[in-house]
Amino acid sequence: MLKKLGSVYNSEDFIREYINSQSRDPRHLYLDKPAMHKAIPNLNGKAVLAIGCGDGIELNYLKKKGADKVVGIDSSKYMVARSKLNAPWAEIHKMSASNLDFKVESFDFVYSDLAIHYVRDIGKVFSEVYKILKKDGIFLFSTTHPIEDTLEEVKLSKHRKLKILGYRKIDGKINKVYGDYFTPRQIKNRWWKKNEVVIYYTPLPDIINEAIRAGFRIQQVLEPKPVDTMKRAYPNLYKRMSKIPFIIIFKLKK
Ligand SMILES: C[S@@+](CC[C@H](N)C(=O)[O-])C[C@H]1O[C@@H](n2cnc3c(N)ncnc32)[C@H](O)[C@@H]1O
Repeated sequence: MLKKLGSVYNSEDFIREYINSQSRDPRHLYLDKPAMHKAIPNLNGKAVLAIGCGDGIELNYLKKKGADKVVGIDSSKYMVARSKLNAPWAEIHKMSASNLDFKVESFDFVYSDLAIHYVRDIGKVFSEVYKILKKDGIFLFSTTHPIEDTLEEVKLSKHRKLKILGYRKIDGKINKVYGDYFTPRQIKNRWWKKNEVVIYYTPLPDIINEAIRAGFRIQQVLEPKPVDTMKRAYPNLYKRMSKIPFIIIFKLKK
């Protein structure tokens, strides 16, 4: 049965499945984690907040990078419980990225890996993060790449699918358009057949303009390609990830 919840992250079964698969997910292992880790600035002596910290493994990584204080937040009580198990030394709260209940200017660095596309209003996240960052503080986040979110899945047969952004021409005339780049919208993905995962697609200029509106300066934008070792382990996925971006990373400065 298809599970429809406000957020699948509020389902204990989903969290169990997610955590079991996540440590083996090649997209995390070969693309997103290496790129995010490389982009982390020097954290020695810094106060760090991780938004959407999931199972808390990333809290241990941030601590290992030299952070003095590491705080994790997640909107799922099950993820918060996992985080507390995996990083018992850290300060962890059940809290939403849209409503950060911390003292103004209390963090040097805010980190968020593949979490903010679950929030409808990205501008609210930016203004909340801006508020709790110290002057010159950094917000490093990854999100699904707008190109990935604009692709449309076309079912060719029971086992054959296409994911495309484009159009079909017949006799030189456009006959059908696939995908939608311009419309911000909710996207429903199916994970492990039975879970409906809802994310929000925000066109690239809207992400950039909302960040600027909140007061941020853009320090770096990355469209990472997978690390070389993926080529042998997952050749087809490697080819796809090397040609079409899957995630985008922003480094913003207050
Ligand atoms: C794909 S997981 C990523 C977890 C972790 N950052 C990692 O890379 O392993 C997304 C996480 O974002 C959390 N999340 C979703 N919406 C959120 C919100 N509005 N505020 C805070 N966390 C949220 C989910 O509960 C989930 O733990």
